[in-house]
Amino acid sequence: MKRLLRRALVFIAFVLTISAQAQSHQSGNGTTGMAAPDWENPAVLGINKLPYHATLQLPSKWKECKEIVSLDGIWQFHWSRNPEERPAEFYREDYDVSNWDKITVPGNWQTQGFGTPIYTNIDYPFKRNRPSVTSEPPHDWTAYENRNPVGSYVTFVNVTKEMLSQNLILHFGGVHSAFYVWVNGQKVGYSQNSMSPAEFDVTKYVREGRNKLAVEVYRWCDGSYLEDQDMWRLSGIFREVQLWVRPLVHIADYHVTAVPDKNFTQAKVTADIAICNTDGKSAKKMKAVLKIDGKTIAGQLKNLAAGDTTHIRLTYLINHPRLWSAEKPNLYPFSIELMDKKGNVAEHFDYHLGVKRVECVGEVFKINGKNVKLRGVNRHDHHPRTGRYVDNATYEEDIRLMKQANINFLRTSHYPDREYLYELCDRWGLYVMDEANQESHGYGYANEEMGHDAAWRDAHVDRAESLVKRDYNHPCVILWSLGNEGGVGPNIQAMYDRVCQLDSTRLPFYDCHPRYSALHDYGYPTPEVLKIEAEKETEKPLIAREYAHAMGNSMGNLQEYWDVIYADSSIAGAAIWDWVDQGLVKKENGVEFFAYGGDYGDKPNLDAFCINGLLAPDRKPHPHYYEVQYVYQPLHFELHDNQLSIINRDFFTDVSEYGIVCDTTVIDGERLLNVSARLKEDRPWAKKGFVVASEQFVLSPYDFPKVIKDEDKAAAKGASIDGNNLISWIIDGCEMLQAPLEPYFWKPENDNQHAAGFARNSAVWKEVADVTVKYTAINDHSILVELDYHPSGTDKPLLPKLGMRMRLPADFTTIEYFGRGPWENYPDRKRSAFLGRYKMPLAEYETEYVHPQDNGCRTDVRWFCITNGKKTLRIDGLQPLCIRAWDYGEENLEGVRHPHEIQRGRFVNLNIDLNIHGVGGVDSWGQPTLPQYTIDGNKPYHYGFILDWQ
Ligand code: GAL
Ligand code: MG
Repeated sequence: MKRLLRRALVFIAFVLTISAQAQSHQSGNGTTGMAAPDWENPAVLGINKLPYHATLQLPSKWKECKEIVSLDGIWQFHWSRNPEERPAEFYREDYDVSNWDKITVPGNWQTQGFGTPIYTNIDYPFKRNRPSVTSEPPHDWTAYENRNPVGSYVTFVNVTKEMLSQNLILHFGGVHSAFYVWVNGQKVGYSQNSMSPAEFDVTKYVREGRNKLAVEVYRWCDGSYLEDQDMWRLSGIFREVQLWVRPLVHIADYHVTAVPDKNFTQAKVTADIAICNTDGKSAKKMKAVLKIDGKTIAGQLKNLAAGDTTHIRLTYLINHPRLWSAEKPNLYPFSIELMDKKGNVAEHFDYHLGVKRVECVGEVFKINGKNVKLRGVNRHDHHPRTGRYVDNATYEEDIRLMKQANINFLRTSHYPDREYLYELCDRWGLYVMDEANQESHGYGYANEEMGHDAAWRDAHVDRAESLVKRDYNHPCVILWSLGNEGGVGPNIQAMYDRVCQLDSTRLPFYDCHPRYSALHDYGYPTPEVLKIEAEKETEKPLIAREYAHAMGNSMGNLQEYWDVIYADSSIAGAAIWDWVDQGLVKKENGVEFFAYGGDYGDKPNLDAFCINGLLAPDRKPHPHYYEVQYVYQPLHFELHDNQLSIINRDFFTDVSEYGIVCDTTVIDGERLLNVSARLKEDRPWAKKGFVVASEQFVLSPYDFPKVIKDEDKAAAKGASIDGNNLISWIIDGCEMLQAPLEPYFWKPENDNQHAAGFARNSAVWKEVADVTVKYTAINDHSILVELDYHPSGTDKPLLPKLGMRMRLPADFTTIEYFGRGPWENYPDRKRSAFLGRYKMPLAEYETEYVHPQDNGCRTDVRWFCITNGKKTLRIDGLQPLCIRAWDYGEENLEGVRHPHEIQRGRFVNLNIDLNIHGVGGVDSWGQPTLPQYTIDGNKPYHYGFILDWQ
């Protein structure tokens, strides 16, 4: 039965392929006529596009590469809201574009003031009706009025006489989503597949002097059905444009593999080089050359007929290779040359290779024979000002910050990034899962529509092929991902087959079905589920390609995940979702802020769901970045009987390569041992002395003040008490309370809690109950405060926090405390925040999240001082405290979309608590905070602190 069905499916698939191809002939030559336009026809992926090939020259050397003329810069631009209104004839030489707008290339047009950025996740931004992208959507959608915006671009390129005798190739690094190209009024070609390069041979269209280059870009095309990633939907020529000036006979492609033998004693380097002859006559006696390790390996090419391409293989053995890994990114620089019959170098490219082995041995994932753990993060190619174009300096900052956070694994979610990023990963050391630009989530996770429809087969394969062919030579790539949240079925099988055929030295990966994947994926498990799933899966290693959803104030329980991962050799690792908040800089009334879904009136949109980063959009680390740095650290320290032991989680770096520093400090009687492992030498991503791993041990604990058994209930002079509340406290004739000190159990939600229904479930705690507070005067400027909670029933929901609140005058803006810090920490996210004495302004004590929410907690606080320079309030806990301080109130956070909208500065809001509900760390669509980090409302609690005016 099964067999029969399969045959039938194959037959249908075959018929569909034929009809789709036939259609392409009708529509392949233009946007007019009755046939579907190319950009709504999945059979037309490109017209006159050159084959995909490897990045020929290391991106860091592009500037000095004599073949490359950069066309980046200011171009003429015209935006139309739909194809009908576009200036269809603009490519003609007699069409005047001199009074058009200007646009920067590379860049998105929406970030330069044209059209509307749309942030959507699963919903397609246009009416779902494939392959059409112009069907009528709901009337309030952005795409209703702007059915498929078109950007018309013009620039002029100067071509010299010498250039004319060579082969001229136009290179586009990335254009979203589909585009036509004309040179001097003549149509050159068409392309889609927006995150991969597109190249066209323009030799026959150019002339000496000024040439008109016209590019017409469509916001959406049929390819957009495979580009339904959860991100800002932006358009335009967003990556580099280059004119390659090349000899008529030139290197078309090269793939270099360096595979170690079983024992890593030798590595065989194989360079497969493709040479093409674009000349009108045959090329004779040319040589291809590989230079590596001080050696020159040359191979004679056979005579190459006009218009032909030939392949040659050169090999070389490296003895005792220095292996490449993220820890030790050893590279072998090499060059590939083409020599003419006189021995002149016609072309020369520089690159590097790394010797490594990636494999699954049973259910164990290995790199260079070791069970390396992938301490990962997902990253979108996003910049707050330039959108999908991310400049080199930002790439360097990102990779530096990743390395500093002990991240060793990067997933380029959900498409190939710019080439330079991979070069950095090669050089600085990061394992990369390189992902194909394939997501059809709008049809459902693991959908069959896109996975089975044969008309979309080539479109899928195109995305796999363009991925592998471009990035093949980067040592950093360990996994090829077929995409994210796409289809299942023969189209994915075809992607898988193509990837395996193109490269056997890396492993294929897919999230939607293990059939297409060397690793089994389980996204967003709880630590418990991760453990269970890994035990269940016995055939393949398990990976969580996404976990620990870092939305807003989050990333609790990270250590719990890693306790599970380190304990099970079959878990390859996990990658945090995700690296950077995808906010876009928007200016309103002179104020700049980070915008998210809906801020541009974009519809559909998913609000702040794109703000999930370890960093703010401007790359400022959030407090939870430091927790990642700590939990991901390669060294772990233990102290037993005054003996420090170090556990090394890395495989290729010895502990002796770090400088270990032990430092004992005494703060108010508490003896603390701070241990750190530091770099002994400068690295590209950090200076000598940089702390790679650290730990703190309490040698002798803090002596918290004892409860004073003084039964004198009279208030301190100037203090007035009403029931549970301290309603007024006059010191030196001034009222020090802007609002009473009162028992207060409510706290605003963070994003994770919102999704988990926290406010709804714990709403009763907006009113305190079952509590008594006792005030005891100590002297005329200090009071002991003790709170008792005795639940009256057994069905109380979780307590948001157990504690009290008060408001001080607005000028109390300097804080000094002894507790965990310096950055914000919560019960489930405090391991990276060591005990210390910290001083900072209130503004720094608070954390500014792109989407305002609960923030700023410091846990294990022994004492806390807040001052206006004249008077200081000191709080001493009778036990550790959790303290939050804001220049606004809880009510001021409600319904506020951006930090600059918070009403501030009228008072200082202080929450002094025994405990607070943890931030949560699994996902932001329903998983609650782990139970050990919540506060049971059905248990009694008692705590106390001393308030003292100094
Ligand atoms: C994942 C998806 C990501 C992102 C994330 C939620 O399932 O792969 O692209 O949408 O959820 O932020
Ligand atoms: Mg998705």
